Amino acid sequence: MNQQVAKFSRIGFVLSATGAAVGLGNIWKFPYITGVYGGGAFVLVYLVTILLIGASLLIAEMVIGKRGQKDCVSSFEELAPAGKKGWKYAGFMLFTGLVIMTFYSVVIGWIFYYMYISFTGLPVTIDDAKHIFDNLYAHAPFMQIVFHLLSVVFVAVVLLGGIKKGIEKTNLILIPFLLFILLGLLVYAMNFDGFTQAVHFMFAPDFSKLSAEAIIRAVGHSFFTLSIGIGSIMTYAAALPKHSNLYQAGLMVAFMDTLIALIAGLVIFSFLFQFGGTPDKGPGLVFVSLPVIFAKLGVMGQGIALVFFLAMAVAGLTSAISLVEPSVMYLEDRLKWRRKKAVVWSSLLYFVIGVLVIFSISDGYKGLLTFGKKSLFDVLEFSVDSFLMPLGGILIAIFVGYVMKRDIVEGELLGHMGNAVFKIWYFSIRYIAPLAVLFLAYNALKV
Ligand code: PHE
Repeated sequence: MNQQVAKFSRIGFVLSATGAAVGLGNIWKFPYITGVYGGGAFVLVYLVTILLIGASLLIAEMVIGKRGQKDCVSSFEELAPAGKKGWKYAGFMLFTGLVIMTFYSVVIGWIFYYMYISFTGLPVTIDDAKHIFDNLYAHAPFMQIVFHLLSVVFVAVVLLGGIKKGIEKTNLILIPFLLFILLGLLVYAMNFDGFTQAVHFMFAPDFSKLSAEAIIRAVGHSFFTLSIGIGSIMTYAAALPKHSNLYQAGLMVAFMDTLIALIAGLVIFSFLFQFGGTPDKGPGLVFVSLPVIFAKLGVMGQGIALVFFLAMAVAGLTSAISLVEPSVMYLEDRLKWRRKKAVVWSSLLYFVIGVLVIFSISDGYKGLLTFGKKSLFDVLEFSVDSFLMPLGGILIAIFVGYVMKRDIVEGELLGHMGNAVFKIWYFSIRYIAPLAVLFLAYNALKV
């Protein structure tokens, strides 16, 4: 018998799952896609998707983990009725975390670099800023490798500590710290006239700006931001004590994740509107537009830049931990590896592929690592967004909605949700969530 001895405390689980959910998706991606897709109407669609589909799937993934009490593969196997044990292959989804880490960790490395230039000198003009970013991205593979390695080592050290002393402890410290920084920045930004504009931009929907593409992006992002479909939440939930309230925990995590994305958006847009930037700059928003604005504020701006990038690094690292833990737990629990060996090999695997990812965007090397028109970086990111995560999501929905016995699912949730909410949730898992995923995958393939 594999017994998961160390259990999360209630708050430890909620903060660790929040740490998993709150990541670069919230502070980097959410603001820039909100900017690109025109603000309010996009935000509204995003909020509705989180509520209707995202939160339901998050709770469903928690149900599998908490009931299974094991690594992903074994949890699926354990809960599948006799004759359907082939469902264990759905546990493949734990592999997605390592795939994500091959580029996620590289981006965390960029953030470390930006913390460093917050000290040494921020770019003063947009051209400077573009130059700095381009230099890092395309011309400094070895520096990127060093920063990527730093992130790999941090994550590995936390994972070595296990659930209690590593994951729970880190999140208990870092998540309140992250909230503290973001609230501080929000209070500071509230003094700007730009803050009113930011509120207007994000919360006054202008439906003429809402394209089909915006809707697809909103649905896709709601999965990514809540960490659905790769077994992270499932693996954390496997270390929950018996009487945990998954309904409450799921809502809390979805709420915190949304709150932090909205705060990050408000802070970033307030700075932009106050100091003459535009919100539609795409992925370069925080790496190109923001540093120039911070530079205008002199020494104070340097401090703000440092704190801002620190918050981003914290958000990224706590997610990174949850991306690797499913593999580690699988190797440890199912294949009986020692934890140390599991951590070392998983880390090594994504570190090495991450190095290839770095070369795939570097001038002088990228020819070797480009497939069609896409760099290895793009190929991996695309396969995660459009294929691996939607597939994981739909498997979870089908498993909880159709394969697991209804009374087991009810036993886990009914007492906390009540009949009416349970019915709505179950309907969402059986019908709305699978359809949303199919819609997503279909459209992703068309692009
Ligand atoms: N939710 C994280 C983010 O918003 C990314 C992530 C995806 C983490 C899947 C774990 C699992 O950045």
